[in-house]
Amino acid sequence: MSARPNAAVTPATPAFTSPAPAVVPAAVAPAADPAATAAEPVCAGPLPVLGRDVTVPLVTGGEVSYAALDYAASAPALQRVWDDIAAYAPYYGSVHRGAGYLSQLSTDLFENSRTTVAEFLDCRPDDQVIFTRATTDSLNLLAGVLPADCEVFVFETEHHASLLPWQRHRVTYLDAPRTPARAVETLERALADREPYGPALVCVTAASNVTGELWPVRELAAAAHAHGARIVVDAAQFVPHLPFSVRDLDVDWVAFSGHKLYAPFGSGVLAGRADWLRAAEPYLAGGGASRAVARRPDGGVDVEWHTTAARHEAGSPNVIGAYAVAAACKALTEAGFDTLVARERLLIEKVRAGLAEVPEVTVLSLFGDDAPRVGVLSFVVEGWNSSHFAAALSAEYGIGVRDGLFCAHPLVRTLLGGDPGEAGECGAPEARPGERSLNAIRVSFGAGTPDEHVERFVRAVGELVRDGARWSYRTENGRCVPDRG
Ligand SMILES: Cc1ncc(COP(=O)(O)O)c(C=O)c1O
Repeated sequence: MSARPNAAVTPATPAFTSPAPAVVPAAVAPAADPAATAAEPVCAGPLPVLGRDVTVPLVTGGEVSYAALDYAASAPALQRVWDDIAAYAPYYGSVHRGAGYLSQLSTDLFENSRTTVAEFLDCRPDDQVIFTRATTDSLNLLAGVLPADCEVFVFETEHHASLLPWQRHRVTYLDAPRTPARAVETLERALADREPYGPALVCVTAASNVTGELWPVRELAAAAHAHGARIVVDAAQFVPHLPFSVRDLDVDWVAFSGHKLYAPFGSGVLAGRADWLRAAEPYLAGGGASRAVARRPDGGVDVEWHTTAARHEAGSPNVIGAYAVAAACKALTEAGFDTLVARERLLIEKVRAGLAEVPEVTVLSLFGDDAPRVGVLSFVVEGWNSSHFAAALSAEYGIGVRDGLFCAHPLVRTLLGGDPGEAGECGAPEARPGERSLNAIRVSFGAGTPDEHVERFVRAVGELVRDGARWSYRTENGRCVPDRG
């Protein structure tokens, strides 16, 4: 195996049961040489990610390195994650009840991945870490375990993944607050008004996928708890950028996606309090979730479900995906969030300063220009259709951004000055000069983004606004694409 001996994810305790494997593969063994770990470079520039050398054709001729500025949708895999998976892949085996060497190794790796994630999130000792498919899956899982009479409180500003899963319960949708303090007041008022006083859940995002702005999670958690409610945090856009502490923020659950955390292998996480998870029916019924199954004399079947995380992980788990998430958690922690955050701040400032130079550009914000944020910014350009603008960035500059309503329709409509209740397509109705844009452009970046990508983006925005597109575009299957005649 050609892997580095320094595994990104090392089992906390390689607790193999008898017969103990004779050789622990390097990829899953504890780092043999502490000096090798210490010698890992501190992140002075971007972390290495896959795809950094990929070039794409320009419609105007030639090729250019691809500037991936859509991290908020899916971030490229960290090279470190890829290497660790490649090192483990030959040892991949069935997990849990497999008796063979590789099964035991893979089971340890899978279970130790939970421990790594729990450490990354600074969970309480009795919290459960459940591997899911992604944030959407995590929040739907949680929605399925809420007590029957649980009320849910959610801001209309949420991503649809945190806005929509609660519909089987009584949901109160809270209006978009224009300051963090107003968010806390709004929640407090809503919770104080509730009648009768039963179980309640607040769902809030930690960092907006539209504006990148940070929400006052600690204060919202305190407000929720003061009124007898629990809180789940959608940290999909937060954990790739900033350290998250379940304990310190005092939140009940947190959800995130591996593919936004540089681990695009199909896993996500729901972590937090075990009691409601244990009390509920399994998310999926099947093997893995059940401890014992027996026929009853009356012809039916009795099932004893696990009370651990396995209860909600029926079916064969995505071992590679879970390991990838854990590998990413370790890689970011070891790179050092202080360094990552400081570097991302510089990128954010470059983008903000660059966009501020272009009077036609309006950056969307709920809490105001100076609100703390992660590397996610959405904007509109006066006189431009956002889809047209994004298509030109791609075709003429090799820059991949996103356009639309970003699965947060009510929020984007509010930010664009429309009615949050308005229905409509994500697509790109024309906005003529002076007209209100009906969708927006989002640029997002992170630990793998070189300075050149954001510099090219800023230059491209300025040039497009000043000189116009050099190519003509048309809409095909709902997407704006270069017209190649
Ligand atoms: C804030 C937020 N929450 C939830 C999701 C849903 O994540 P996933 O599609 O990985 O389930 C996203 C995806 O963009 C997001 O940005």
